[in-house]
Amino acid sequence: MMGGATARVPAKINLHLGVGPLREDGYHELSTVFCALSLYDDVTVRAADEFSISVTGEGAHEVPADPTNLAARAVQALAEYANVADPAVAIEIAKQIPVAGGMAGGSADAAGALLAAARLWRLELSREDLSDLAATLGSDVPFCLLGGAALGSNRGEELLPVLHRGELHWVVVAAKGGLSTPAVYHELDRLRAGRGEKVRPPERPDELMVALASGDVHAVAPLLHNELQPAAVSLQPLLRRTLRAGREAGALAGIVSGSGPTCAFLCDGEDSAIAVATELSGLGVARAVRTARGPVAGARLIPAH
Ligand code: C5P
Repeated sequence: MMGGATARVPAKINLHLGVGPLREDGYHELSTVFCALSLYDDVTVRAADEFSISVTGEGAHEVPADPTNLAARAVQALAEYANVADPAVAIEIAKQIPVAGGMAGGSADAAGALLAAARLWRLELSREDLSDLAATLGSDVPFCLLGGAALGSNRGEELLPVLHRGELHWVVVAAKGGLSTPAVYHELDRLRAGRGEKVRPPERPDELMVALASGDVHAVAPLLHNELQPAAVSLQPLLRRTLRAGREAGALAGIVSGSGPTCAFLCDGEDSAIAVATELSGLGVARAVRTARGPVAGARLIPAH
């Protein structure tokens, strides 16, 4: 096989996730602060005689290795957009990001596939063109390209970079099962309807953005907030125990990541993160416990494997 390109793409967590009412298009209006973390999927796209896709690493057997995979759909969408005459490729995905964990693993693979295929085919696409194409594949895909920290609105695909100083230290706890994103949004709607709640448009988390600009972890920690968390906990009640365990182990704060069930714990420095991770590993509440840094850069090309 001739020619190939590899993109490395970070996982995301939402430092703030405000969720508005269910819209007529089936999505919810969001006001969210994304943060890219140093857990990566590597996506390699090679020229090939016929389509193939292989997935290795964390949770690989749970990912569809067929044309329904979001990375395959991304390559297909790019080929159509750019009128690529011979779009047959072999895609290889090496996963570190937990599958169905609320950390945008599938979206990261789509972002990586776009970037790698654009390089393979030597397409001159602006970041803006790629981002527009990314948004057609999923609400989180544009952020996986952008990385860093960003304010997301609309479905989450409209992004504004957020000023941030330094890197924060995290412990990421992947739960034993996965959660379906639509099921978690649906559960939130159900819980809200049960309370007879009038759901307001989500507000911009200005205080959090000021804290991120200051780089003060103690200012950021109390402002972590996820409105999907009660819904994720309702569907997977063991998460309550995980969240408590993280705080008891010394984390400054912990939240469910996006629609979950992965939990992210913010720690006061790298040594603290290692201590918290070690303690949580011993409890057996998780499939995997990892330390991570973030915000980190978004998808980028790396030397091919
Ligand atoms: O955009 P994406 O395909 O990743 O979204 C998956 C699902 O998550 C949607 O079908 C919808 O049920 C839910 N979602 C939502 N509101 C958003 C983003 C996602 O309800 N802003």
